[in-house]
Amino acid sequence: MAGFFCRGYGPVIWLIGSGGMLGTELSRVFAEAGMAYTGTDLEVDITQGASLEDFAEQRGPFRWIVNCAAYTAVDKAEEEAALCRRLNADGPAHIAALAGKTGGTLIHISTDYVFNGKGIYSGDPPERRPYREDDPPDPIGIYGRTKWEGERKVLEGTERAYIIRTAWLYGRYGKNFVTTMLDLMRKRDRLSVVRDQRGSPTWARNLAEVITAFIARGEEGRAVPYGIYHYSNQGDISWFEFAQRIYARGRDLGILTGDCRVIPCTSDEYPSRVKRPGYSVLDKTRLKEALGITIPEWDRSLEAFLKIIRGTDA
Ligand SMILES: NC(=O)c1ccc[n+]([C@@H]2O[C@H](COP(=O)([O-])OP(=O)(O)OC[C@H]3O[C@@H](n4cnc5c(N)ncnc54)[C@H](OP(=O)(O)O)[C@@H]3O)[C@@H](O)[C@H]2O)c1
Repeated sequence: MAGFFCRGYGPVIWLIGSGGMLGTELSRVFAEAGMAYTGTDLEVDITQGASLEDFAEQRGPFRWIVNCAAYTAVDKAEEEAALCRRLNADGPAHIAALAGKTGGTLIHISTDYVFNGKGIYSGDPPERRPYREDDPPDPIGIYGRTKWEGERKVLEGTERAYIIRTAWLYGRYGKNFVTTMLDLMRKRDRLSVVRDQRGSPTWARNLAEVITAFIARGEEGRAVPYGIYHYSNQGDISWFEFAQRIYARGRDLGILTGDCRVIPCTSDEYPSRVKRPGYSVLDKTRLKEALGITIPEWDRSLEAFLKIIRGTDA
């Protein structure tokens, strides 16, 4: 169990899914901010309401519950729909019911995959605009469908909930696009990457800081309104453009030494079991205004991330 109480003051937080990519990053940010938290992962199974209740009884009460646990294997989800639903819908339902009963505030993480990726068109002539929190979800696969179901269960289970939808997450502590690209670029001399899916990368560290800001605001008596918020880094690109930048900066920073040609391809040319949203750009106005923050541009965050992993085997 990754339990950790820091300096004995500050908010008492239960971080669920503390061993995952975002959960691990969040543990570090909480520790650096001197926020008292306890983290659990598989040892407190979110699909079992009773295990959650037992833990809360023994270690609570918690003023904040942050749920980073999820089923995140988008392709595999198509074959493991029942398991995926247990984790992404039933789990959040149990957690929200517990938060509702015990009075804690829940922060639940969701995804751009709740949208169909066709984009929303408005204006005259119509132009595609980023997805807002109140745009109608219409997921195209099991992962997105179960995550949307999870969102609804959270909102039904407690009035004190924040749902933060994010996209294209990468960081130091899990398998993700950036580390996968670096790995492949070391092994291959050419790499095809899709150019017809557009979105905004999100450095897990930046998202962890934003989650911490939600908690800090609540603790200071300046809680922002409950509900759904969107967060990713600023700016939007295709996966191909992202890969190009990873390669160029990876070379400049000495993380990559060999040559690799990054070649654009279309989703149809790329073998995948599941259809992915073509346009995943999220409108972050609500979050920016609520917290009064500026969101880092995707390329600056990538640069900071690459500098951190330089010299490691990531
Ligand atoms: N990754 C992305 O690109 C992305 C994009 C948009 C949104 N999100 C959302 O962001 C959140 C965090 O994603 P992530 O990439 O950090 O996920 P992750 O690395 O897959 O972490 C999920 C964690 O949950 C744990 N877990 C699995 N089953 C559990 C159970 N029954 N009870 C308790 N814990 C369990 C996992 O443990 P094991 O690893 O041992 O199974 C893992 O430590 C998720 O809600 C995800 O949907 C992710």
